[in-house]
Amino acid sequence: MCGIVGYTGHDKAKDIIIDGLKKLEYRGYDSAGVALMEDGGIQVRKKAGGSGTGGIANLEKAVAKEKFRATTGIGHTRWATHGQPSDVNSHPHASYDGEIAIVHNGIIENYRELKDQLEKKYGIEFVSDTDSEVIAQLIRVLYDGDLEHAVRKAVKKMEGAYTFAAIAKGEPEKIVAYRKDTPLIAGIGKDCNFIASDMTALLQYIDDFYLIDNGEMVVETPDRIKILDPAGKEVTREPLKVTWNQEDAEKGGYSHFMLKEIHEQPKAVQETVSRRIGKDGKIVLDGIKLTLKDLKKFNKICIVACGTAYHAGLVGKYVIEQMARIPVEVDVASEFRYRDPFVDDKTLFIAISQSGETLDTLMSLREAKGKGARILSIVNVVGSSVARESDDVFYTWAGPEIAVASTKAYTTQLVCLYLLALYMADLKGTITREYYDEILSELKAMPARAKRVLKKADKIEEMAKLLYNRDQIFYIGRGIDSSLAYEGSLKLKEISYINSFAIAAGELKHGTIALMEPDTTVIALATQDRLFDKMYANVEEIKARHAHIVSIAKSGNKKIKKVSDDVITIPKCRDEVTPILSIIPLQLFAYYIARERGENIDKPRNLAKSVTVE
Ligand code: G6P
Repeated sequence: MCGIVGYTGHDKAKDIIIDGLKKLEYRGYDSAGVALMEDGGIQVRKKAGGSGTGGIANLEKAVAKEKFRATTGIGHTRWATHGQPSDVNSHPHASYDGEIAIVHNGIIENYRELKDQLEKKYGIEFVSDTDSEVIAQLIRVLYDGDLEHAVRKAVKKMEGAYTFAAIAKGEPEKIVAYRKDTPLIAGIGKDCNFIASDMTALLQYIDDFYLIDNGEMVVETPDRIKILDPAGKEVTREPLKVTWNQEDAEKGGYSHFMLKEIHEQPKAVQETVSRRIGKDGKIVLDGIKLTLKDLKKFNKICIVACGTAYHAGLVGKYVIEQMARIPVEVDVASEFRYRDPFVDDKTLFIAISQSGETLDTLMSLREAKGKGARILSIVNVVGSSVARESDDVFYTWAGPEIAVASTKAYTTQLVCLYLLALYMADLKGTITREYYDEILSELKAMPARAKRVLKKADKIEEMAKLLYNRDQIFYIGRGIDSSLAYEGSLKLKEISYINSFAIAAGELKHGTIALMEPDTTVIALATQDRLFDKMYANVEEIKARHAHIVSIAKSGNKKIKKVSDDVITIPKCRDEVTPILSIIPLQLFAYYIARERGENIDKPRNLAKSVTVE
């Protein structure tokens, strides 16, 4: 959700922190701020975003002419939970006397109670509507010249999810940070040290970093990083190497991260597949230790995820059931957590998450773990919470995904699910070696085929120019295509704000067809040879209502042209693997529509990339 950056060293903290915040803007961009240790005091500057500008752009403008000498400071980019986006509700929050400043990611659930106590007992007047201000005021009243002690005492009184960093006027070169539920890393610089919500913020400054665990505190000065466990005991830990490079987190000539990430899909898919093929041409699942004995024990698989990752899970259900013949349930994490699911030690629980930090997914994982399930996760961010709490981890290796609308993470999640399904099916003997080889060679062919689909970008851009003013756009499909319909529709609504609805095509006649009229736009996914005649009939039904139809079909499909206003084709391939290709036109369509409408594509309103609150 929110992003935190801290720096203590010998260079100008303001520039380094603002630069780091820009890299974390995908975590939230309602507002941004910095607190700098300047001339024996703490200077706080913070700004809310306005229409068309994020908080960081406004902050940067506000401090452009200020020449701070500070070499220690903390910064924040916010996705508002308590208190609307405004200058005063932005972080950092300072204590009533300016002695302490903090930045916070998460929610302090008992903040009203703490606020009441601080108001009554100490007469503190709060200035913001946020829960986070409580942290600064609480640390202040507990502070006796030692920030580390004050933070330790303060966290004992807080409830909820709270990762925060604090600085104290009296200790000018020190940052104390604490992790509870939302991510935190400590970056190792040269004569300087950093803290950040994730390594994307620090790619140009560090090669190594420490992952901070839940309940741990980090105390940093320019020459030292001290990690303390919940009991206050110093922990020794091996640093991790940064695996992403700076260019991966930059736009590289593209107008938006989303467009860049769409175009990175051939490379990402290549990376995901090629790492998993052994010398004998068979799948090697690094990070997964599933044996035939394990598989025989599982009587079902629960796939749990949110947003785009959930849609990948829907495809996963088709392929795992079809290939490995194990029943699969797919749930959105926010529902799974509260439906008292039937999960036990015979369940394989698969969490899918790009960030590995989505709170609902993480909590569902814990729920399943508590009931004895084996936990496997498909995750992009190495060392993230979901990854660390899983028994087996399958990394997507998609590289950093910055745009809020997920693209390359989705395609690589699909590839992981295919590899997993094939691997399990092979172990169980539910498929032939020929079928195994065929699907594997389809997967290996995907990067080249995806490049061919990307070449249709101009055509899709033209289509978008024609359709960008529509009020609503429907997505329909059958079988595996219906899962794609959901993802295509989500892409469109999240970045273009066009009302969009996805439905299994066969279900149209049970209600939704009532909405079809001239001018209604329908994106029809018709890539499944097996179901083509049924799908064709559904498209004919809506054509009869004079809807405008754009179909996605396999190359060479002449029939679909008869009932479509436009057709985008994907290269011929087996029905099972079409999703890896057919999502690309849908992503491009959403992108170009949003661009025609002049929307803020990488940072759509009200959304954040990593949702670490319920
Ligand atoms: C947010 C993002 C979506 C993403 C979802 C799940 O809603 O905006 O793009 O699909 O979270 O995120 P995860 O990191 O768990 O895949």
